[in-house]
Amino acid sequence: MGDREIGQFAAARSRTASAARYRDLMRTHVADHPLIAHKLTVLRDERTDSPTFRRLADELVTLLAYEATRDVRVVDVEIDTPVARAHGVRLAWPRPLVVPVLRAGLGMLDGMCRLLPTAEVGFLGLVRNEETLVPTTYASRLPDSLTGRQVYVLDPMLATGGTLAAVISLLIDRGADSVTAICLLAAPEGVAKLEKELAGSPVPVSVVTAGIDERLNERGYIVPGLGDAGDRLYGTVGSA
Ligand code: URA
Repeated sequence: MGDREIGQFAAARSRTASAARYRDLMRTHVADHPLIAHKLTVLRDERTDSPTFRRLADELVTLLAYEATRDVRVVDVEIDTPVARAHGVRLAWPRPLVVPVLRAGLGMLDGMCRLLPTAEVGFLGLVRNEETLVPTTYASRLPDSLTGRQVYVLDPMLATGGTLAAVISLLIDRGADSVTAICLLAAPEGVAKLEKELAGSPVPVSVVTAGIDERLNERGYIVPGLGDAGDRLYGTVGSA
């Protein structure tokens, strides 16, 4: 083998090694589209009121869902058009499962179901113990087994990543085939936390988001972010 061939062989081996490592990593996809950037900008603006925020979040989720469902499973079918026999596809069984994380994830559900109307919907609510910082589940409505299910988690803000990591781990433990989280915005700290916690996951995990911002502030808000997504979706509930 000449020097050039050895060089090519080494390069190919290193490409294979990095491809294998890449499979172990969580995939993070930042959807890059002018309409997404436009809607996100209006969403961030503090002058945007709750009804407009809800409508834009809904539209944004549908656009993100388009990217997030790129690997949704389909099966081949044959149908008859009014003109001729044609090949096509339809969504495979079992149906995809959509899981909004309470409370703010609920504001993303309609936008997701617009694209995947036949998906089944489960719910998860987690709360963080302020002493141990460990998130625990306070509400869960999921099929008993998630074996063979492609799961789409809806959580608008990937901030510290603690809750989302717990949600994704729970879904994997229940047998999910793949987990894709759709987040309006993410912080680098949250992405890093998910990559660390979910390294070596037995199933593919991905995050699809409209943007990765600069950082988290000392209160755990994404900077520049858009503020508290739950409050902006539903308005703050003050005492009477
Ligand atoms: N949750 C939010 O609603 N906003 C943030 O910036 C971080 C977490």
